[in-house]
Amino acid sequence: MATVCPVAPLHHGDNTSRLKITSVKTLAESSNLTSIPSGYTFSASTSDDQAVHSGHDDSIPVIDFSLFSSSNPDRRSKVVSDLAKACRDWGFFMVINHGVPESQMKAMFDMLTGFFDLTEEEKREFEGKHVLDPIRCGTSFNASVDKVFFWRDFLKVRVHPKFHSPTKPEGFSDVSAEYSGAVRKLVRGLLKGISESLGLEPGYIDEEMNMESSLQILTANLYPPCPQPELAMGMPPHSDHGLLTILMQNGIGGLQVHHGGKWVKIDPIPNAFLVNTGDHLEIMSNGKYKSVLHRAVVNNKATRISISVSNGPSADTVVIPAEQLVDGKNNRAMYIGMKYKDYLELQQSSVLDGKSGLDRVKK
Ligand code: OGA
Ligand code: NI
Repeated sequence: MATVCPVAPLHHGDNTSRLKITSVKTLAESSNLTSIPSGYTFSASTSDDQAVHSGHDDSIPVIDFSLFSSSNPDRRSKVVSDLAKACRDWGFFMVINHGVPESQMKAMFDMLTGFFDLTEEEKREFEGKHVLDPIRCGTSFNASVDKVFFWRDFLKVRVHPKFHSPTKPEGFSDVSAEYSGAVRKLVRGLLKGISESLGLEPGYIDEEMNMESSLQILTANLYPPCPQPELAMGMPPHSDHGLLTILMQNGIGGLQVHHGGKWVKIDPIPNAFLVNTGDHLEIMSNGKYKSVLHRAVVNNKATRISISVSNGPSADTVVIPAEQLVDGKNNRAMYIGMKYKDYLELQQSSVLDGKSGLDRVKK
């Protein structure tokens, strides 16, 4: 995972070596680590006591995906309106009965644990050079521009429309192909419901966004135990670039969502997916469904692994607000069009910073 970095976070004062950044996994596993190197210290405390648990009357919405195929029209329209509310009020929701087998979810965790356990030497083969390389592993977010390093190692793989996969560990490719296909199916189902919830034809988003060639990126995040979790950050506040992100986590919490002016801790529900609306859903819905800031904090006890699949339009789609949601009066188009791949490249090559990607396309 070692990446050449202009500012080495380790061994300050040692000018003889423009050191490579070690993965946080290696750092965390080095025996006597009782404090974090200064390059990982955030100025604002990420301390858990700044975050709250969601209240009973306003907890993260849960969507039962099986109800979309219900033959009972009342149940179907109820789940569409639940989805509308979830996208409008939270931008985050859990999905249960999603149809992706538990065995496939577990197999993904096993493969990714295996990947992160490869030697640094083996992982170097998959390092990638450019932010749009189809396979890329590393540490932090974009170590060549990050001012402070995040307590996170990652693997990012483009899995659609052309499927890519690291060749190690053995079997990764089959497991990942099956899993990302199942996620794509779920996403297209959810987008149908979301189209309806916006008053559009059920197939509207699928067609306009060219989901047949959807750009799908699988990201695995590894957050090893951190000796000073209140000073470090796993992933800083950001929104996701695509339409919908599907996240699963290994039972260890750490995700916080910005909701109602506070950071809200999201406890994992076993076998459920966490779904969030991305910047491109905000653009196509002309701001009706906003992408939402979220961040990942770390802990000093257990390694957390999360696997997120970002599902966007096709790379060449120029996304603009749906014309049915725009008029010349009170609902003017709030965003200009940008090709999805150009947006992606801008976001991935910059410092990860809130919703700064969207600012570039706001009118
Ligand atoms: C992401 C993300 C959060 C997490 O991959 O975009 O926000 O909990 N991950 O790892
Ligand atoms: Ni995210």
